[in-house]
Amino acid sequence: PTQRTQDRAAEARGDLPELGSPALPAVPGSFRNTPDTDMSTTANQAWAERITHRLRGSRIGEAEAEQMRVSTREGVESAIERALAAQSEWAGRTPTARAEVLRRVAQVYAAHRAELLEVMASETGKTLEQGDPEVSEAIDFALYYAEQAERLAQIPDVQLTPRSLTLVTPPWNFPIAIPTGGVLAPLVTGSAVIMKPAPQARRCGAMIGALLAEAGVPEGLMQVIDVPEDEVGRALITDPRVDQLILTGAYDTAALFASWRPDLRIKAETSGKNAIIVTPHADLDLAAKDVAASAFGHAGQKCSAASLVITVGSVSRSRRFASQLADAVLSLHVGWPEDPTAQVGPVIEEPSGKLRDGLTRLGEGEAWLARPQQLDGTGRLWSPGVREGVAEGSEFHRTEYFGPILGIMQADTLEDALRMQNGTDFGLTAGLHSLDPAEIAWWIQHVEAGNLYVNRGITGAIVERQAFGGWKRSAIGQTAKAGGPNYLVHLMDPSDTPHLA
Ligand code: SER
Repeated sequence: PTQRTQDRAAEARGDLPELGSPALPAVPGSFRNTPDTDMSTTANQAWAERITHRLRGSRIGEAEAEQMRVSTREGVESAIERALAAQSEWAGRTPTARAEVLRRVAQVYAAHRAELLEVMASETGKTLEQGDPEVSEAIDFALYYAEQAERLAQIPDVQLTPRSLTLVTPPWNFPIAIPTGGVLAPLVTGSAVIMKPAPQARRCGAMIGALLAEAGVPEGLMQVIDVPEDEVGRALITDPRVDQLILTGAYDTAALFASWRPDLRIKAETSGKNAIIVTPHADLDLAAKDVAASAFGHAGQKCSAASLVITVGSVSRSRRFASQLADAVLSLHVGWPEDPTAQVGPVIEEPSGKLRDGLTRLGEGEAWLARPQQLDGTGRLWSPGVREGVAEGSEFHRTEYFGPILGIMQADTLEDALRMQNGTDFGLTAGLHSLDPAEIAWWIQHVEAGNLYVNRGITGAIVERQAFGGWKRSAIGQTAKAGGPNYLVHLMDPSDTPHLA
């Protein structure tokens, strides 16, 4: 079970058509995280089964996705004009009025949880186990940013001006939660928003557009447009009326956009090469389970995923941890989302380039602890791979693969392990498994990453509780974490109250 299901109240999804959650609390100042579906009840198991039955051949969202194609510069121009035309009325509403719209978005998402799971599974291959917390996260973003917008408005002598137009370019791996958070944050500050979904998640993007409209987001103010990644897409990004860009994706993409338009305010959460250190003071059973879940949840296709485990001293010398890890990994159930028990789903497309290399070619001195196997004819379903003997500074140590592949590195001391953990270009998530308070305190002081996790997995950040963002090449221009208290401020411009003589 995820942390959410462990520590939150269970909630029945009921047995009504489309089975939404009960109405959500809408009282300002009462933010609490939304519970995931409690799969221990037979009613909710039946609900999940109905979703999985619908999956084979499901094209949910296809018609809506067709309507959002914008393939010419004129189309881009008209989208920008419509957005700006709607923005002044929206910015003129009170923060509370804008927050109310976000609270309605939360209710609409809760009522459409089943369709959101269906579109993620059918379009991107996300399993229900991974998709359900993602819907909860999207609802959390709506309720949390609503509350933060109202809080900001109450701070005396602080004047913040919204930026007119925000462009949002989200990734395909969290095709509902990341675009929803990315759109709602600038929207609640008073900005207009244009969102361009990832090409692999167009139907998810169309669903977001439809649900926001249902919740009362004004027509034109927020538009989802499917722009080709050619000169038309470039015209959108480089248009001087776009004030800021919220991007989640590869570092190289963010750097390219920054080179096109150096004056564009870019808020980018980018790549990761994340490691978990396991010291001799760790609970090894727990460590093996957490490493396996962090490396192979969503087939490793998370910027937060564990790509390396670094064993220290006696953990390296004895075979106990390696064999526990192999057991944990080999017992993961690999399957398509149609199978409700699947724990590791398909990768987004047949692996090529560096991911194919990572799944098939060993570096010098490396050996397979679990050799990845292609499990069906699609090329998309792979059993998890674990390689041992990854050397410091090697290709595997430095490369983000974004797939079901984990490497084990060995260190003599915690200091050596930390040097390896910090020794990549990135700094997104980092983990330590140790029950020794002195080791934990020392590590927290020296590790270079945005999200630190001790004695637990390193994925699945929860809004407010674990605001999310990175250091080094895991971010560009992002000076506040998503789902945290400073996020809205960093999307606005400070202005002054007039000083009168
Ligand atoms: N927020 C996600 C996680 O923590 C990654 O984007 O796993």
